[in-house]
Amino acid sequence: MKSNVLTPSLADAMVRVTELAAISASKEVGRGDEKKADAAAVDAMRSAFNEVEFRGRVVIGEGERDEAPMLYIGEEVGTGKGPEIDIALDPLEGTTLTAKAMANALAVLAIAPRGGLLYAPDTYMDKIAIGPGFPEGLISLSASPADNIKALARAAKRKVEDMTVCVLDRPRHQDIIDSLRSAGARISLITDGDVAGVIATTDAATGIDMYVGQGGAPEGVLAAAALKCVGGQMFGRLVFRNDDEKKRAARAGITDLGKTYSLNELASGDTVFCATGVTNGTMLNGVHHKDGRVHTHTLVMTSTDGMVRYVRSSRTV
Ligand code: FBP
Repeated sequence: MKSNVLTPSLADAMVRVTELAAISASKEVGRGDEKKADAAAVDAMRSAFNEVEFRGRVVIGEGERDEAPMLYIGEEVGTGKGPEIDIALDPLEGTTLTAKAMANALAVLAIAPRGGLLYAPDTYMDKIAIGPGFPEGLISLSASPADNIKALARAAKRKVEDMTVCVLDRPRHQDIIDSLRSAGARISLITDGDVAGVIATTDAATGIDMYVGQGGAPEGVLAAAALKCVGGQMFGRLVFRNDDEKKRAARAGITDLGKTYSLNELASGDTVFCATGVTNGTMLNGVHHKDGRVHTHTLVMTSTDGMVRYVRSSRTV
């Protein structure tokens, strides 16, 4: 069912929220302090949310209430009037990228009418994603990475050797890397930022055909909210390293710990997705200053009409 609460003006308000978070975080680019950069983004995002006429509730945020002072899971934001909206947010996706002035740091959020986003706990998630235009059921978390990329190559009528898979550069991904190499695929290794990695599959210009690997579950829901707007396929399965993480899942209302979530289960409602570049990246330019103004570059997408829009803004400093 299509939502009538995700209005264009609410989407515009969300653009302003990620813009202000990105501007704030950008002051910490290259300064080596990940926590300070994150805090700057969180603070600015929270203030910006509180000016929006909605009853926002953070469902994916900076952590649980006892561990995050701001934008914690369950925090209510907004003016307290207007539509009831659930929010998944990552004020700074790529804290290390920001601290080290590396590419692809983003301020990110997704919104949906209440109940429209999976309340994913702060654990890891196994993920696989491809862009739009392929038959349903082509990829699966239970198939090997090699079989997945071969299936995608067949469907795309291309050679596996010409396919590129984005993978987070982590020792835990060695089996995935070996599997993909055995198939002959190219691998684009990224140091951080798998929200951008998943979204890259939807844009032929990036050269990325598939994303696979284990990253944050919150980032998985954010990426799913983006794919929901532009199309594509994604699956996610929570990964638990200890009992504490299982308890987090229980608190989030998750009972089936081994479940594989499809795109429409990760983001079941209509969504608005916004990302503003903090540092320059493959999708977006970072925040920069010119002629006494601060310039931002934002991607905003809405699932109700499949809209994809790039917004360039500038403000006086
Ligand atoms: P931060 O913004 O917290 O630095 O996270 C960035 C990120 O690379 C995510 O994009 C990804 O999902 C996750 O970290 C991977 O976690 P880990 O660094 O533990 O492998």
